[in-house]
Amino acid sequence: MEKKLEPAKEGKEVIPGKLAVKVIAMPADTNADGDIFGGWILSNMDAAAALIARDRAKTRVATVAINNMTFHRPASVGDCIECWGEVVKVGTTSVTVRI
Ligand SMILES: CC(C)(COP(=O)(O)OP(=O)(O)OC[C@H]1O[C@@H](n2cnc3c(N)ncnc32)[C@H](O)[C@@H]1OP(=O)(O)O)[C@@H](O)C(=O)NCCC(=O)NCCS
Repeated sequence: MEKKLEPAKEGKEVIPGKLAVKVIAMPADTNADGDIFGGWILSNMDAAAALIARDRAKTRVATVAINNMTFHRPASVGDCIECWGEVVKVGTTSVTVRI
């Protein structure tokens, strides 16, 4: 059965699951306006999801879909980006991970 998780509330830390990726945002990761590029953040989230899914599946995994990605605040050079996550659903050949 799919596990229901509370959505993160503004101003309140709700960090479900485990830390899978931790990395510092560098100047090379910025967009044209100098903020951190969303695609770079998403890439780290995808890597975190793959690590968590692989731990569960015990075999190679591939991302089939990314649903519901929201950028709440801009990130800056020097920020520490942490990607936390957990398995929320296990299917026959698929694993759903919330990051
Ligand atoms: C992922 C992939 C192997 C799935 O192959 P497929 O034979 O078409 O998949 P199926 O239709 O048999 O579905 C396999 C599982 O994925 C799930 N799935 C398929 N499409 C999905 C989607 N859009 N969202 C969520 N789950 C999905 C199915 O529900 C099924 O899960 P279950 O076995 O637990 O019921 C194939 O689509 C693929 O190789 N895609 C490219 C992956 C890739 O390159 N990713 C980027 C780099 S990691």
